[in-house]
Amino acid sequence: MRLTILGGGGFRVPLVYGALLGDHAEGRVGHVTLYDLDAGRLSAVARVLAEQGAGTPDAPEVSATTDLDEALRGADFVFSAIRVGGLEGRAADERIALAEGVLGQETVGAGGIAYGLRTVPVVTHIARRIAELAPDAWVINFTNPAGLVTEAMSRILGDRVIGICDSPVGLGRRVARLLGASPEDAWIDYVGLNHLGWLRGLRVGGRDLLPRLLADDRALGSFEEGRLFGPEWLRTLGAIPNEYLHYYYFNREAVRAYREAERTRGAYLREQQGGFYAEMGNPDTPALATWRRVLADREATYMAANREAAGVGERDEDDLESGGYEKVALALMRAIARNERATLILNVRNRTTLPVLDPDAVIEVPCFVDAAGAHPVSVAPLPYHAVGLVTAVKAVEREVLAAAESGSRGTAVKAFALHPLVDSVSVARRLVDGYTAEHAGLSYLRS
Ligand code: G6P
Ligand code: MN
Repeated sequence: MRLTILGGGGFRVPLVYGALLGDHAEGRVGHVTLYDLDAGRLSAVARVLAEQGAGTPDAPEVSATTDLDEALRGADFVFSAIRVGGLEGRAADERIALAEGVLGQETVGAGGIAYGLRTVPVVTHIARRIAELAPDAWVINFTNPAGLVTEAMSRILGDRVIGICDSPVGLGRRVARLLGASPEDAWIDYVGLNHLGWLRGLRVGGRDLLPRLLADDRALGSFEEGRLFGPEWLRTLGAIPNEYLHYYYFNREAVRAYREAERTRGAYLREQQGGFYAEMGNPDTPALATWRRVLADREATYMAANREAAGVGERDEDDLESGGYEKVALALMRAIARNERATLILNVRNRTTLPVLDPDAVIEVPCFVDAAGAHPVSVAPLPYHAVGLVTAVKAVEREVLAAAESGSRGTAVKAFALHPLVDSVSVARRLVDGYTAEHAGLSYLRS
């Protein structure tokens, strides 16, 4: 099987390759094509992969190209993890939002909208090329904002595109461990949109163990989401929200922490990652060791401003282990390619899962996966407070998709103005002015 990675010069590509190296079964990926706009980044990552694969005789072959069509031809799976505008763009998204007193996180609020507006036209083009050159390929989307981007691509590729995120997996695993359940045997009742979902139960043998966790202050204080939201609020909700809901439930504190932080996440990563690629320019740099060091630092500082806002200090050893999106990606590919049934939380079209949304709306929900793709399982309805957020944010996503299609600036303003974390239409107008002045990739927005 052939896997093409779009954004193949990206920092997290070695995670995916590492997962592939552990797969020796029949029908495994034998060739990986890395595609990126930047040849320098491609060769940096190729060096890391070469060191990673050195001890493995059946390590997948790796080739690299800056030609999209060449990368797509013959692909069985396409893994998309691109960053339109780079980390420079991410830092600008945050800066412009914060100047208006709103959050500019890459997937939430104003930042997510700006990033979505830049990314949708690019992924739409890519989806068209895939439909033309590799119509039978399955596309696994990790490009953020992952739900919106998956929905944009699904308009062209239908159910052949599936979005993944490691946040729900990480949350499910942390909660399962605390309850003494194995994450594989537990049924995790999680649903919402990407970065906007709730874990509402965890059943083992038909029994819901979550109430036991919610009643236990000490256990709640021992993991990332428990500390971020605090036991009282979690009990009030009767669910554990995805960590990204911290931006909603504690918005004022999060904005303050971001404003007071020395650097925003994007600005920090721009420097950190820039340093990594610069170091890799030196042929004597030990590639894999350098990559590992930078990765550990990236994970240790993840969501640092939110932890600061919640006053909860450093991350725990257990929380540092990322959700493992590369494991989800591999499990998904295996389930499809070899009809190895799996249950995974994925971003797929709603069909009739959540009756408050139309069938084409991409949601994040547990799915049964087999050779025919990902099938969302039926779940209990969302409570009204969650319906409110989910439908409001889906409405925003639809305006982003409409603006990307029509090039209407007014529609872009509407997208910002309707977001629950943007508190005035005037702010929305200024955000559109600020973002279009900054990003060449938004020049398609006419007046
Ligand atoms: C989590 C999120 C991803 C995000 C990643 C890295 O896993 O679910 O969507 O890309 O963290 O975040 P960072 O701030 O390090 O780029
Ligand atoms: Mn994610």
